[in-house]
Amino acid sequence: MEPTTPSEPPLPVTDASLQSYYALGKEAARLTEGLGRVEYLRTVELLDRVLPPAPAVVADIGGGPGIYTDHLLSLGHRVAHRDIVAAHVDHVRANHQPGTPTGDRLDAAVGDARRLDLDDGSVDAVLLLGPLYHLVDPADRRRALTEAARIVRPGGAVAAAAISRHSVLVDGVLLKRADLAFPEILGLLDGVRDTGVIPPLFDGSFNGYAHRPDQLRREVEEAGLVVDDVVSVEGVAVALGDLEARLDDPGERERLLFVLRSMESAPDLLGLGPHLLALATAPGRRRAAVG
Ligand SMILES: C[S@@+](CC[C@H](N)C(=O)[O-])C[C@H]1O[C@@H](n2cnc3c(N)ncnc32)[C@H](O)[C@@H]1O
Repeated sequence: MEPTTPSEPPLPVTDASLQSYYALGKEAARLTEGLGRVEYLRTVELLDRVLPPAPAVVADIGGGPGIYTDHLLSLGHRVAHRDIVAAHVDHVRANHQPGTPTGDRLDAAVGDARRLDLDDGSVDAVLLLGPLYHLVDPADRRRALTEAARIVRPGGAVAAAAISRHSVLVDGVLLKRADLAFPEILGLLDGVRDTGVIPPLFDGSFNGYAHRPDQLRREVEEAGLVVDDVVSVEGVAVALGDLEARLDDPGERERLLFVLRSMESAPDLLGLGPHLLALATAPGRRRAAVG
């Protein structure tokens, strides 16, 4: 997990619209309500399925305010957290200060998924749960996925999340009713469907890129990884008006998670939920990670 000095000059790490969206500070609470709760529960379940037992070395690239870093540290892993937004890195560091049991297993720094300061094969697993949402240029997505494939050891796991192509329509318009405040969103929907590009609606609104399931699979494969599965994270939970009540009830929550698990790979439903997750493995034999 020793940082290396990149041989080429760093890519510009600031993208103005991305930075202004995250400057609103909404990200830390995103996974604590509504569909965000489903996203968190399901992502943890899916990660627990593919990650090696602790203690392992896991890179959380685009880790944001660190909710999955928190989970990984709580399990006993060492975590290399990287994010392009400095405030997110500060948030994670403040939660896990040096000299504490979790802080001593954390290496957090500002970093760009497209050019990482981590050595080849130096981690047992990579989470890429965010950068692909924002990388509109296919060459940038390829760089981010190729970097994930470079830093993971042979046989290690890579989990790469993407926004589903239908998310603006289903989550933005149907559920969050963004069209009431911003009717112009309706005029953008065909373009989002056809190109995947989600333009900013106003200064600070979400903007980025949305994948089709087969496209995510292909991009991960083109980075040299073996795709084990592409799943829908939230699936049909998007259709539940009483979602919070179900999640608050342990029995109902388990029933919901059971259904989502059962349908997660159904090809005809993959794009329904807001997030897709590709679960992949680096080719080569399994061996212990360096670091
Ligand atoms: C929606 S948040 C997800 C945060 C966290 N991984 C999660 O799933 O809750 C997306 C994150 O990706 C980060 N990000 C976007 N592009 C990036 C890049 N090129 N390199 C590193 N981080 C990036 C953003 O700053 C943000 O923190």
